[in-house]
Amino acid sequence: MLTAEQNELLTRTDAGTPGGEYMRRYWLPALLSEELPEPDGEPVRVQLLGERLVAFRDTAGHVGLLEEFCPHRRASLWLGRNEEHGLRCVYHGWKFDVDGRCVDQMNEPESMQFCSKIHITAYPTVEIGGIVWAYMGPREKMPPPPKFEWTQVAETHRHVTKTWEECNWLQALEGGLDTSHAPIMHRKLRPDVEAAGISPAAYFVKGKAPIVEVDTSDYGYMYGGIRELGEDRMFVRTYHYVMPFTQIRASQYLNGPEFRPKISGHYWVPMDDENCMVYNWVYSYGDEPLNDEDKEDAAAGPQNVYVDQGYRKRRNKDNSWLIDRQAQKTQTFTGIVGINTQDHAVQESMGPIVDRSKEHLGPADKAIIALRQLLLRGVKTVQEGGDPPGTGESYYWLRAIERVLPAGTDWRAALADEIYEQAMPVGVNG
Ligand code: FES
Ligand SMILES: [Fe+2]
Repeated sequence: MLTAEQNELLTRTDAGTPGGEYMRRYWLPALLSEELPEPDGEPVRVQLLGERLVAFRDTAGHVGLLEEFCPHRRASLWLGRNEEHGLRCVYHGWKFDVDGRCVDQMNEPESMQFCSKIHITAYPTVEIGGIVWAYMGPREKMPPPPKFEWTQVAETHRHVTKTWEECNWLQALEGGLDTSHAPIMHRKLRPDVEAAGISPAAYFVKGKAPIVEVDTSDYGYMYGGIRELGEDRMFVRTYHYVMPFTQIRASQYLNGPEFRPKISGHYWVPMDDENCMVYNWVYSYGDEPLNDEDKEDAAAGPQNVYVDQGYRKRRNKDNSWLIDRQAQKTQTFTGIVGINTQDHAVQESMGPIVDRSKEHLGPADKAIIALRQLLLRGVKTVQEGGDPPGTGESYYWLRAIERVLPAGTDWRAALADEIYEQAMPVGVNG
């Protein structure tokens, strides 16, 4: 559990809050590249850390991310004309380039324009892995670009989507670092059930409830869920938490004993304190490209079936996620269609910001406890003028691996070569 004060500290990310200043030290996914498909195309509204922004791709293809409201008299620049290397407000024609410079003021005679005195907030962006990332912190503290391994493979080998989740980012992230729920909540009741879900044939459904072991590192932590399989075997599934909101999870044996060289993950990016945007990604680290099934596994279903305009789920809190009680009896553990929707349903069901002072955590929640400790420390580090973990490059080549091993094997040693190609853990705290 957390005190009410600690809960506030971790869940609030507006500018000027300790959690918000902490969060502004990282590159943040702002939108998908495909939302800005062409130069001089339509601008897109973006909400990040409580700030309302507008993104546009200029004539040269560069992405601008500006405060949404025009500094003249505050009209929304989302209405703007994206033309000739800038976004022009339709009210009086003031125009801004991707760096936030005012380059024209149509409503003033040329001799009276005061462009040089006007600047709009503009955040630096990079495009990596089909995502436009933004950096909203102090310029001199900008971390190296967010080159997760999945972003560095060929386009045929990676896939990314996004889904709006209607609750605070932290309770959503906590669901992603919680191996104990996965084979319970997401299981199908029988192997022949068609609906998306984890097959009873998967090792982590067949195994017993997990022992969780967490190793902290300079990027966050790695943790393993170790499940007894019987016949002197165990199944180890590893995850990485890269601060502040990244989960990388092993996906080699999602459906049973057939191996796929596949790793997946999510980013839970705060839009404001009561909403987050979840980026869902998967990649193949083998020779073969991803197939359609792999891609659906990442988004937990065909994206156009699951989300509507604005990336809102069709099954959402206003329609009780279309829970089907009959299906809950006969098909899937929840009776809700879609693995990600199942996660969102329980997390949104807690209310916009869960009251963590009322929880009762157990050993299976070890990774969640570790996550909160790291975040509290990270926030404090930034408050004291330091650099938080996860702003280096040590996470670039991390892989999350799962494997069946003889019971009692030192799984860290057995999996180390595959997990840490270049990155090395700096400390182990069991
Ligand atoms: S409000 Fe934008 S130009 Fe006047
Ligand atoms: Fe889940």
